[in-house]
Amino acid sequence: MDETYGKLLEKVKNLLGSGRETEEKFQRLCILLRSSVPQYDWVGFYMVEGDELVLGPYSGAPTEHTRIPIGKGICGQAAQSEDTFIVPDVSGQDNYLACSIDVKSEVVVPLFKNGAVVGELDIDSHSLDAFGDEDREFLERVCGYVAELL
Ligand code: SME
Repeated sequence: MDETYGKLLEKVKNLLGSGRETEEKFQRLCILLRSSVPQYDWVGFYMVEGDELVLGPYSGAPTEHTRIPIGKGICGQAAQSEDTFIVPDVSGQDNYLACSIDVKSEVVVPLFKNGAVVGELDIDSHSLDAFGDEDREFLERVCGYVAELL
């Protein structure tokens, strides 16, 4: 992992290891990621409730997608496949829920507890093809730390 992500990962670990409430840590994490990585324009959590994903803390423009059925959209597909889902160009994705016309690419990383998906981290970018292998590795590690709090 390159130095920028390595340093940011240290900040994430410090934040998640602090004495704050879990909800506040999640909120601060969204703000930290969005303000630290230029291509991260919307950063938020969805948590599994029954057969839906429910919007949790986020940083970025408000979204109408506060509840997403599992299987629907990029978020719902990632929850169903239980794997990180990178979409380099959302215009090429049929099963997509648009939050804003500015969004060009998206990554969704599941949060696992006892082997099951209990939520996910969703990041939108206003740039095409904004998420690569470095982002996947970095965000999967972040989600590993986040999952320890659940
Ligand atoms: N684009 C997502 C919906 C959530 S917003 O990006 C915040 C999707 O297709 O699932």
